[in-house]
Amino acid sequence: MRYVVNPTMKGAYIHPEVYGNFSEHLGRCIYDGVYVGENSKIPNVNGMRTDIVEALRRMKLPVLRWPGGCFADEYHWRDGIGPKESRKKMINTHWGGVVEDNSFGTHEFFELCRQIGCQPYVNGNVGSGTVQEMQEWVEYMNSPAISPMANLRRENGQDEPWGLKYFAVGNENWGCGGHMTAAHYADEYRRYATYVRNYTKDPVYKIACGPGQHPYYAWTQTLMEQAGDLMNGLSLHYYTVPNADWRHKGSATDFTVDEYYRTLAKAHFIERLIHESGSVMDLYDPECKVGLIVDEWGTWFDVEPGTNPGFLFQQSTMRDALVAGISLNIFNKAARRVHMANIAQLINVLQAVILTDGDRMLLTPTYHVFEMFKEHQGAHLVESAIAAPSFAREDVIPGPAPRRGTPASYQTPYVTESASVAEDGSITVTIANLSADTAAPIEMRLDAVSAKLSEARILTGDIHDKNEFDTPDAVRPKDFDGVRVEATAAGTEVTYTLPACSVAVLRFEA
Ligand code: AHR
Repeated sequence: MRYVVNPTMKGAYIHPEVYGNFSEHLGRCIYDGVYVGENSKIPNVNGMRTDIVEALRRMKLPVLRWPGGCFADEYHWRDGIGPKESRKKMINTHWGGVVEDNSFGTHEFFELCRQIGCQPYVNGNVGSGTVQEMQEWVEYMNSPAISPMANLRRENGQDEPWGLKYFAVGNENWGCGGHMTAAHYADEYRRYATYVRNYTKDPVYKIACGPGQHPYYAWTQTLMEQAGDLMNGLSLHYYTVPNADWRHKGSATDFTVDEYYRTLAKAHFIERLIHESGSVMDLYDPECKVGLIVDEWGTWFDVEPGTNPGFLFQQSTMRDALVAGISLNIFNKAARRVHMANIAQLINVLQAVILTDGDRMLLTPTYHVFEMFKEHQGAHLVESAIAAPSFAREDVIPGPAPRRGTPASYQTPYVTESASVAEDGSITVTIANLSADTAAPIEMRLDAVSAKLSEARILTGDIHDKNEFDTPDAVRPKDFDGVRVEATAAGTEVTYTLPACSVAVLRFEA
């Protein structure tokens, strides 16, 4: 397959935040996940698991969204501040009906982000919260002044404001966040966002709730038309669910080759959603000032047998690694419009990057893809194209049957890729072979540059391969041997064979 990368054709900036994660008070993401409390025997710093924090630092996690999700529109931030013993207990009605003791609140979230070295992204409550409650939360987090909320923060041990940048005004307000119509939410957004004040010269980046259900574009259009002037970002939620019936989504580990391809095609469908959402946004914002914030994406399978259905705990295989590779390549290529993305979710929930079992933890195949792609963060996309064959599926496009004349099937390429160039001139190429059984011979040219290979790693295996607590390193990146590099008059020719079901990273010094 012929593959041309043109490092001299520099495109959009790849916002590091595209490699973000999402952490909700759901199942074992926070409690029994990243937060074990100061008194735990599991090594921790101020209650945050050290092994997890270190892994997330290695992955270069740029941004973390919290506290939900659907939980966000039921969360009242004052319940989660002050002495832990007097924090209010509540029932997490949305997720498993378990007791939420609020021991992880605003201070703990910022402490976690400090340890990881990532940006915090807080999601506010529109569905069941008041404008005043939201206004005061932002004041609590960001005001340096002598003001009631800033004083309360100081009483609780934090003198300096945290300087939160990313703030979402509601979550899925067409569904769990209040079942609103687009026009009603647009009005609510305008009202709530007005009181999300800027307390310093660094303005809050305000994110409006976008669509997450078919039809996507009507919601996007209403929001852009009625509230586009007051937002910095508009979210988009898209989950890859193998089966159309959400009551039987499909197993995370026990799937057929046909389900494998359907899953990958459905993951790839996000490209069309981004493209078409972007086209609607272009009508109101041709300069892409408003970012598309894909703040929930990833696979959603049936929970692991025997686990709480409300906890959304699923295993992760090489199939998930491919979904991650496909998605991150698509986000890179859409860098002009996609300014942030947050996989759901960080630990023990949905397409998690880490799973825990007591004091044991493992890195999922998805984690490795994030780690391998990390050098794209903050680089510039460059022009690239591959002549790859594709496969057609008729069970990918959601919503009503297509109208006459529109194609019923969706084409997915067998090989997806993206390439970027960093400030120091180094080139990163990430490439995935979706085929379950056929290797892909690649003839790649780095056009008009003379480049030296500095890194070649590959993650590959059978489509069902996974890491388990007794074999946590069964799937991990290995050196990618057999990459041949040759300087020519046209640039640098690089030849290699991508094994079936693989994700690779190649890095070059130019
Ligand atoms: O990630 C799980 C849930 O999916 C989130 O809480 C919600 O926003 C979405 O429906």
